[in-house]
Amino acid sequence: MDLSVNICGIQFQNPVAMASGNAGYGIEYQSVCGFSNKDVGAVFLKGTTLEPKLGNKPERVMESPSGLLNSVGLQNPGAREVIAKYLPKLDMSATQFIINVSGSSIEEYVEVVRLFDQTALPAMEINISCPNVKKGGAAFGNDPEMAARVVEACRAATSKPLIVKLSPNQTDIAEGARRVIDAGADALSAINTLMGMQIDIHSQRPTLGNNQGGLSGPAIKPVALLKVHQVYQVAKQHNIPIIGLGGIASAEDAIEFFLAGASMVAIGTAVAKDPLIVKKVNKGIAKYLKQHNLNSVAELTGRLQLNT
Ligand code: DOR
Repeated sequence: MDLSVNICGIQFQNPVAMASGNAGYGIEYQSVCGFSNKDVGAVFLKGTTLEPKLGNKPERVMESPSGLLNSVGLQNPGAREVIAKYLPKLDMSATQFIINVSGSSIEEYVEVVRLFDQTALPAMEINISCPNVKKGGAAFGNDPEMAARVVEACRAATSKPLIVKLSPNQTDIAEGARRVIDAGADALSAINTLMGMQIDIHSQRPTLGNNQGGLSGPAIKPVALLKVHQVYQVAKQHNIPIIGLGGIASAEDAIEFFLAGASMVAIGTAVAKDPLIVKKVNKGIAKYLKQHNLNSVAELTGRLQLNT
């Protein structure tokens, strides 16, 4: 069964990626599990800013029965160090590695894009939707106007495909999608984490040092599916593919995202529990396609029939 998908002219051997933030820069995962494009369609690397960032104060990741709540705050060594020290360690022939570009000003995004433009990475994910940017940093993803300006500026700085990561925390994600498509996005990824809070009833304080953070995991799957469905209504008019993510932990979950309009999916939180889950999800997708006499994942994309 051929599971390959083509997104923005890039051939992915299968439609299941690892979401940004789950394998850092992939070095440790590569040495323990190894990457193979038969198993892992792509790896989205950690959100990277221009200068090194220590991230937010602890606690930064809390488990809850609903999923993981994080306020990491884009801890990363900075774009130059990633390029000099981390990228050379990756086996680029094993799968497709995509950098997640983050920032807190338009100028910063542009600088990071310019630096990664000079690398062998095939595409960039423009992260306008981190819920944990420090006070003073603009909430780009929640403001369609700002989001469009970031994407427009990044577009002018590279000819590599840009995948724009959308926030579920904005009022109207379909409008947000329309604006970034007009600004030059080649693909969209949806969704980033959903803002939330957890409270320790003994100290009567939020458990996260930053008070609030982004929720990921099974609880956000229904939210993510609806957002992908809404974004697809806009994206399909422009032939813009969607990478769906948010709480995917099985082949069945992934198939729901394809039906809602995704051309590819990414797994985040579930990778932390089972590092080999991507391979299992691919197996289940192949089985489903066979059972339904379908020849490719593309035939599933947007196949959802709404009740009338
Ligand atoms: O939930 C998130 N946490 N989403 C991001 O885009 C970045 C990350 C962080 O570093 O805070």
